[in-house]
Amino acid sequence: MITQLLSSRNGQEDIQIAARILRAGGLVAIPTETVYGLAADAFNPEAIRNIFKAKGRPQDNPLIVHIADLDALPMLVTSFPESARKLAAAFWPGPLTMVLPKAEQVPGEVSAWLSTVAVRFPSHPIVRQIILAAGTPLAAPSANLSGCPSPTSAEHVFADLSGRIDAIFDGGVCDVGVESTVIALNTPVPTLLRPGGVTLEQLQEVVGEVLVAPAVLNQLKDGEVAASPGMKYKHYAPKCHVILVKGSTEQYIAYVNAHQGENVAALCYEEDVKYLLVDAIPFGKKEHYDEMAHELFDRLRELDQEHFSTVYARCPDPKGVGLAVYNRLIRAAGFEVITLGDET
Ligand code: TXA
Ligand code: MG
Repeated sequence: MITQLLSSRNGQEDIQIAARILRAGGLVAIPTETVYGLAADAFNPEAIRNIFKAKGRPQDNPLIVHIADLDALPMLVTSFPESARKLAAAFWPGPLTMVLPKAEQVPGEVSAWLSTVAVRFPSHPIVRQIILAAGTPLAAPSANLSGCPSPTSAEHVFADLSGRIDAIFDGGVCDVGVESTVIALNTPVPTLLRPGGVTLEQLQEVVGEVLVAPAVLNQLKDGEVAASPGMKYKHYAPKCHVILVKGSTEQYIAYVNAHQGENVAALCYEEDVKYLLVDAIPFGKKEHYDEMAHELFDRLRELDQEHFSTVYARCPDPKGVGLAVYNRLIRAAGFEVITLGDET
């Protein structure tokens, strides 16, 4: 299959082409404000099955359904509780996904046959126009090969999925850079399943108590069931060996410099670069969590291209958007953490 390249430079024409492909049951990679998604008509089971094939995604990992209008909710969910209304008013359109009771007509393929469905109203103008032109909600996981870092540019999507999908719509580099925050609202207390651009602190301000699913911060024990199936997979794994190093700037630099070697690199803060004796790849300034989120996946892909064997990554504070950065990095590191001190 030849993958067609579409672009916002061609304006409405390419939006209509993308919509036609989707209506006919095809797969189109779309830009969103978080990461690129691999979209299909949420009501076409065969198209949904093709998403799983193209990505090599495990069948038990459910997809997020994207809408561009609140009027689409009744065809997707059986209830939209008060907490969901408040969160929608505060954060939609934007990088927040809500897990809600699924309407029967949503194909089981979308939700991995769970009784719930994840719904998101993205803010990126291109995806909104494509959903409206297609006239159907779009199911879309991140548009990477399963296990690779999520794509934050059309080039990343091309590298992973060219030849496997019908089209890629180039909408430039994604703004947020990590996937949406996922919150479950089918539980007695709202539960954070995946941290993202909408922070835990922001969620608590709107709905009060929010539990944090254990899989957000810790590795699941053998046999433990993940509230969000996606959290059980290693994920975001570059091919090199990534180790997360927790400690002060002085401790981090001393540790990395004491472990120099062939093909060793540091995934560090910009301020660290000049003190490091190994190849240093900065992913943002200290405590600039939005910047780190924006850069992280691009840097993880870069690590693979450079063929490093071991990478010592600085551990960000799990505060604000830092929680999302920490959550992705600890998975990239396969939960391997060296603790030199409490300070990050
Ligand atoms: O920002 C995003 O969310 C991007 C863009 C494309 O919108 N999408 C994305 O999709 O990251 P994906 O498939 O890579 O991640 C979806 C996550 C997975 O961890 C999945 O397990 C969880 O959401 N999820 C989906 N439906 C769920 C459900 N019914 N219950 C619990 N978790 C669910
Ligand atoms: Mg994904």
